[in-house]
Amino acid sequence: MKLIIDTDPGIDDAMAIAYAAAAPEIDLIGLTTVFGNTHVHQSSRNARFLADKLGLNIPVAEGASAGRHAESHSPSEHVHGPEGFGDLTDIPQVGENHHLNAAEFLVEMARRHKDELVVCAVGPLTNIADAMQLDPGFAGNIRRLVIMGGAVYCPGNITAHAEANIYHDAKAADEVFSNPPETVLVGLDVTLKTLYETADFEALAQSSPDMGSFLRDISRFYLQFYRDIGGLEGCGLHDSTAVIACSHEPMFDTVETGLQVVLDGEEFGATQPHPSRPSVRVCKDVDGAGVVRLFTERVASLP
Ligand code: RIB
Ligand code: CA
Repeated sequence: MKLIIDTDPGIDDAMAIAYAAAAPEIDLIGLTTVFGNTHVHQSSRNARFLADKLGLNIPVAEGASAGRHAESHSPSEHVHGPEGFGDLTDIPQVGENHHLNAAEFLVEMARRHKDELVVCAVGPLTNIADAMQLDPGFAGNIRRLVIMGGAVYCPGNITAHAEANIYHDAKAADEVFSNPPETVLVGLDVTLKTLYETADFEALAQSSPDMGSFLRDISRFYLQFYRDIGGLEGCGLHDSTAVIACSHEPMFDTVETGLQVVLDGEEFGATQPHPSRPSVRVCKDVDGAGVVRLFTERVASLP
């Protein structure tokens, strides 16, 4: 399966990219970057660093630096650290960004790999909405869009109502849901059922001394955030769960519904059912232990 991950790395993004690199059924053909957990230049630097560390010779195309609600964004430093990788702050600049921007790259790859390309969006949906605007054929050219975002049947994480990726560009997300490609939504409804604990990171570091230790080290900050906010002894495998949903659909229970995003008021950024819009598949339940097991199995095989 040909895959592009649209990402704002980000600790759980780094885990998702490592998983995709390790999964034999995934042919990761590029990364596109977006603001969100970090400023976009940090997302791109981190994506290029990860690609190099994973031995992936793939393009990184930089995307949006702000959403349609530009004034509302500030990076999630308290969750992912000042540079996106927890306590790690001296992240080297490796290589260069692709000459196309993210939306152009997505459009071009969707044309080149018509009906084959899966796009997994694990940051704000700005680049996806931009690609749909740039090429009205984009939605029809891709095989599927898998989104980590939303909290349809459970509370949000950035506000009581909204999940962070959707909140950061609520308008772009609503644009995507108004006329979606074939879409699977992997929201907090399921990603908070895939908790990865300190002991899991330690086991990963044992089996994968380079990548596993790196993920364990950057995740200490992230685990502390989860402890501080909810007394949770593990972090959600948010973005990895979305990548796993690209290829392991039977692990998820889904419902079909149209969606809208609330664009004003107290519930701003909430992702809600909208019966008259085109249906997307919303994940309601997951084999959480299975996801954790699969993630560990795959990433543990990396050096
Ligand atoms: O709400 C979880 C999502 O927000 C994840 O994609 C995480 O990386 C942050 O961007
Ligand atoms: Ca992310």
